[in-house]
This record gives sequence, C-alpha cells and structure tokens, in this order.
Amino acid sequence: MKTRVIQVDRERPDPAAIEEAADLLRAGKLVVFPTETVYGLGAHALDQAAVQKIFDAKERPANDPLIVHIAHIGQVNQCAAGMPAGARKLALSFWAGPLTLVLQKKPEVPDLVTAGLPSVALRVPSHRVARALMEMAGFPIAAPSANRFSRPSPTTAAHVIEDLDGRVDLILDAGPTDIGLESTIVDFTVDPPVLRRPGGITFEQVQSLVPDVIVQTGQGGGEEPQAAPGQMTRHYAPRAELTLYEGPRDAVVRRVAADVRTATASGDRVGILATEDDLAALAPEIAGRASAGRIESVPYGSRGDLERSGRELYASIRALDATGVSKILAVGVGADGLARAIHDRLKRAADGRVRTIVQD
Ligand code: TXA
Ligand code: MG
Repeated sequence: MKTRVIQVDRERPDPAAIEEAADLLRAGKLVVFPTETVYGLGAHALDQAAVQKIFDAKERPANDPLIVHIAHIGQVNQCAAGMPAGARKLALSFWAGPLTLVLQKKPEVPDLVTAGLPSVALRVPSHRVARALMEMAGFPIAAPSANRFSRPSPTTAAHVIEDLDGRVDLILDAGPTDIGLESTIVDFTVDPPVLRRPGGITFEQVQSLVPDVIVQTGQGGGEEPQAAPGQMTRHYAPRAELTLYEGPRDAVVRRVAADVRTATASGDRVGILATEDDLAALAPEIAGRASAGRIESVPYGSRGDLERSGRELYASIRALDATGVSKILAVGVGADGLARAIHDRLKRAADGRVRTIVQD
C-alpha cells in the first residue's frame, strides 16, 4: 500500500482534506491523524474488519484494547452503557482534552476494540484536526498511538512514517503535537475509580473532582499489579538499553557522570537523556574525561518547564536511539503533577532498569 501524506493547518484544516480522510475511514481504511497528545492510527470503531487492520499495521497483540475517539460527550451513549457521576464530572471539566474514561461498553462496540473486556475506553480529543475529523465522520474512531508496537509514541508525522510507511492509507500532518504524552486514563468500571495511566490531566486534577480515585498503573512504585491489558512494561521502548536514574538531583548527576565514565572507558557509546539544565550540570563532570564521540546527549525540556519536557520526551528518545548508542542513561524529573506521566513513560522505557540514588 502507498501511504499518502497531506499537510493540514493545525488551526484551520482544509475541509477537503478532512472529508477525504473521513471517506477513507468510512470505507474501512486506516487514517493517521494528530491529537493534542500524540498521533493516532484511526479506523471506524464499529467496523470490525477495519479495526483488525490497526492490529496488523501496528503488530499489536490482540489483548491490548484500543481507545475510541468521539466528537463530544453526546456521543458517549453510542459506545457506553452509562456514565457514573464522577466520570461525568471529569468529562464536563476536561473534555475536549487529554483524558480517557473507561466505562461499561455497549454490544455495538466490537470485542476486538476492547480486547474482549466488558468496558470501553472513550476520549474526546481537543486538537482541531481530530475534532474536524470526528465531526465529519459522525461515527466513533478507534485509535491507538500511531507507532509500531513497543516503539515510543509518535509526536510528529515523521515518527509515524518511520514506523508505519506503507501500512496506512493516509497521514494527516499538522506538525508536532502539544502535550506529547498519551492521555490520562481513569477507569470507572471499578469502585473506587482507578487512574490507570497518568497523562496531561494530572492525578491531582482528577482527585480534586473525584476524591476517592486511586492510582494503579500496573508498574512498580508502590502501585498494585497490572489490572488491565496493555499496561505491560515493555512499552515505549527504545532499541538502546535505557536506565532511569531518580533521586536527589545532585546525587543523581554525580552518579550518572560516574556511570558514563565507566561505560565509555569500556568502549560503550552512551546516550544521556536529561533536561537542559541537568545536561548543563552534567557537562563539567564529563568533560575531558571521556573520549568525544562516545557520548551523545539530547535534552528534553527543562525542570522549570515540564510541559515542554513532556512534549519533547518521545522525540528525544527517538533522536538518541537513532544515534546508535547501546545504552541510554535517563535523568528523571520527579513524580508529582505532570512529572508523574513523564516518570511513568521513562520507567516503562527502562523496562525495570531504575536506579534510585540516595543522598550520599
Ligand atoms: O492520548 C491517547 O490516548 C492516544 C491518542 C491517539 O488518543 N491514544 C493512545 O492509545 O495512547 P493506546 O492504544 O496507545 O493506548 C490504549 C491503552 C491500552 O493499552 C490500555 O492500557 C488502555 O488504553 N485501555 C483501552 N481500553 C481499555 C479498557 N477497556 N479498560 C482499561 N484500559 C483500557
Ligand atoms: Mg500506545
């Protein structure tokens, strides 16, 4: 299959391009579109054969359920059997936006979409292009992130092409996405409600409206074991072996510098993933010690601007990976507020290699 790419204006997308995309979806084809979080790989959610193509294109295991995108809260009842009061509160406050609600599903939603679960994950994206597409289509659109399974989620059309060229019919390219991390997922099919994936809407924001919400992301950090499919550790994984360093900043910087020296001394080429300010703090520690050409570093935002860190995280991981380093040493930024989502993604990319440094 030949993949077409159409550039669209992120604020005022050309209606002809949107109509073409909606027609393709209606005909059971695959269309990649931008959302405010990451690019999504879309198919008609109520067309089982179309949804199957998503799993094939991504090489995604069938036990990993998809998020269904709708144009507005009024479309919830096309897919879900009801909306508990807490879910409604969150939807009214944070839709359109980076929030996904897990609700009891209606039989109209194919089991393939939900991996056989009796629940369905719903989201109203705020990106103008996504909204225009949902409105033009009129039907719900199933869309996981538009990456190959276990690759970092795509925040630009170039990332999508890297992973899916020749596997999708159309890509709508509206430039880099704003948030850069997948939506916050809150499951209302259990009591109390469970935050299953941290994202652009913070746990603290959710908790302010739904005080009994708990966190269960299926991955370490004192949290419960995995409760939903698709929360497997090896997600967002770069090709290089990534290790996450966390703890007091100065101690982490010293340890990373020491580990970089050890690794390069034994011939490894290593990559450093850290905020601009952390990279600046690391520079004098590393300078002159290790041979040039053995170290690559790519920043992701700054400690003072975690929104930018979230926006840049996946692109920075991809960029470091593309340099061919065998190891990536990643410096974390804490785990509260928006940092919770960043920390979650880094931990998954690290696949268990987390070094918690204590003050010395
Ligand atoms: O920001 C986003 O959410 C992006 C954009 C494209 O909207 N989409 C996205 O989709 O991240 P994906 O497929 O990468 O994430 C889907 C995840 C599943 O792995 C699972 O963790 C959760 O959503 N999920 C989906 N359906 C669920 C369900 N019925 N119950 C619990 N979790 C579910
Ligand atoms: Mg994904």
